[in-house]
Amino acid sequence: MPALPPAASLLAWYDRHRRVLPFRSRGNRPDPYQVWLSEVMLQQTTVAAVGPRFDRFLARFPTVEALASAPEAAVMEEWAGLGYYARARNLHACARLVAARGGFPEDADGLRALPGIGAYTAAAVAAIAFDQPVVPVDGNVERVVARLAAEAAPLPGSKPRLAALAAGFMADADARARPGDFAQALFDLGATICTPRAPACALCPWREGCLAQRQGIQESLPAKAAK
Ligand code: ADE
Repeated sequence: MPALPPAASLLAWYDRHRRVLPFRSRGNRPDPYQVWLSEVMLQQTTVAAVGPRFDRFLARFPTVEALASAPEAAVMEEWAGLGYYARARNLHACARLVAARGGFPEDADGLRALPGIGAYTAAAVAAIAFDQPVVPVDGNVERVVARLAAEAAPLPGSKPRLAALAAGFMADADARARPGDFAQALFDLGATICTPRAPACALCPWREGCLAQRQGIQESLPAKAAK
């Protein structure tokens, strides 16, 4: 496996450029309910669209207990327009289980066992809400890692290798000290610098360690399998 660039460079960049988003806690410890809710909303809805809906949802259901005891029709009504209504039903089922057990499980395996929580969401909540040493891998993170490693094998076949590479960041003590920030720094890098088209490599904190950038092939990665 290729060497990964230092987590410290990305974290220093994040400390200066961190995006202020409605669902990010401001300094204090993130509320696991809010982290989970925002990650479920973000599964298929853009960051820009999630913002106002997240605030509205939270005003109506401020805690996991409030959501658990609401009638399903009220949850579906509040979800209207967000699409993928199975998410809302799973959200409600998950809230009931979590309220019944007295809180969210704190590790990715425990979270993964809940309705509507896949590998990505489990890792995102574990890292951001509970500072567990895991790296959530979504399409943005796959793109960043594929470029760092100049991984030319096309998606979806390369997914397991990209996930293994991403997990390798937790061998870096600086990433392990701040897993929630590290995850969100990867999201921000993918959204603002390491974009699908015309990535802003000149501004990237990992410019030096990026094999795709060195080879000038960043825009062609990650490759997609021919249909
Ligand atoms: N996309 C998915 N989760 C996110 C988060 N926590 N911050 C920014 N973008 C995201």
